[in-house]
Amino acid sequence: MNKPINLFEYESLAPEYLSQIVLDYYASGAWDEITLRDNRTAYAKYKLRPRMLVDVSQRNLSTKILGKPIKMPILIAPMAFQCLAHSEGELATAKVAAELGITMVLSTMSNTTLEDVALAADVPRSLWFQLYVHRDRSLTRALVERAEAAGYQALCVTADAPILGVRERDRKNKFTLPSNLKLANLASMANLEIPETEDESGLFTYFAHQLDSALTWQDIEWLQSLTSLPIVVKGILRGDDAIRAVEHGAKGIIVSNHGGRQLDGAIATIDALPEVVAAVGNKVDVLMDGGIRRGTDILKALALGAKAVLVGRPVLWALAVDGENGVRHLLELLSSELDVAMALSGCAKVENIDASLVCKFS
Ligand code: FNR
Repeated sequence: MNKPINLFEYESLAPEYLSQIVLDYYASGAWDEITLRDNRTAYAKYKLRPRMLVDVSQRNLSTKILGKPIKMPILIAPMAFQCLAHSEGELATAKVAAELGITMVLSTMSNTTLEDVALAADVPRSLWFQLYVHRDRSLTRALVERAEAAGYQALCVTADAPILGVRERDRKNKFTLPSNLKLANLASMANLEIPETEDESGLFTYFAHQLDSALTWQDIEWLQSLTSLPIVVKGILRGDDAIRAVEHGAKGIIVSNHGGRQLDGAIATIDALPEVVAAVGNKVDVLMDGGIRRGTDILKALALGAKAVLVGRPVLWALAVDGENGVRHLLELLSSELDVAMALSGCAKVENIDASLVCKFS
């Protein structure tokens, strides 16, 4: 097999390695999948204004997030159930992140315990823990304490999922986990599992019963009282919410619509980014995710004020196609695309990427 040449080729190959149910779960967006599509197409409205005759012979993609150095402005987004893609699942993803000096955000809903993932990563410095707040607050508290004890560097609180978005493909498939896979972080503590249901996605039902849909900004303060880890709020799409997040203690914001999987019709993330950057970009690190598939997408996001981006589904496609090697290759492809895009726009360093590099055509 020729190695895929870009992220789209991993996406085209992945269906050969996945059952239809898993493929649907990974790929789908909510309802009509308008936001899912918009996340991609919105990048085309932003045009680059490259600078010429700048010495770009020595290039460096490294940057800092939450004050800590990372090798490139790319993180791996939290994504549940990675053992559906490959038997090594989260362990493979974490190993690659550690090796490449980037951050993986581990989902609460991983198939591997957060402690095992920290061991695989060897340097837990490369890990953040994504938290879904369960109604059972003692369970939530225990998750936070476990993540801190295992060496995770930040708590990424997902704000856009008080209940799960309606993904009709999962509803049709009555999505649930196969019996050999567990909700690893929760099964041991509370015997929780994704239910099998008659006419609904088991994950939707799990969220409806277990997650706290009464979560508010005050709870961000409660979470902060449990931990010394910095809190990053994920799922913000408005400037005023970003301000609230910062007022309640967040040290970082992720502009995200959950990859179009929650509220269909929500604004594309690259379109939401400038308002959030204008509101809080001088106070905290603003990151973004959604539809990042090319180095030029990253360049545009950074020019619009993001400090880094997170990449989601493509990691799952690469994991399915070739496990750890696939994920490593995928991230190398993306970083080399960013490197070329920076060179061609007169940016030797990430700090050289500024707002004058993009303009918007509607
Ligand atoms: C996700 N996402 C997600 N987000 C989160 O906060 N906790 C989670 O457990 C998950 N799980 C999850 C599973 C799958 C299969 C997908 C595709 C996505 C959302 C994810 O972190 C991110 O916001 C989007 O995936 C980014 O968009 P792209 O890169 O997939 O277009």
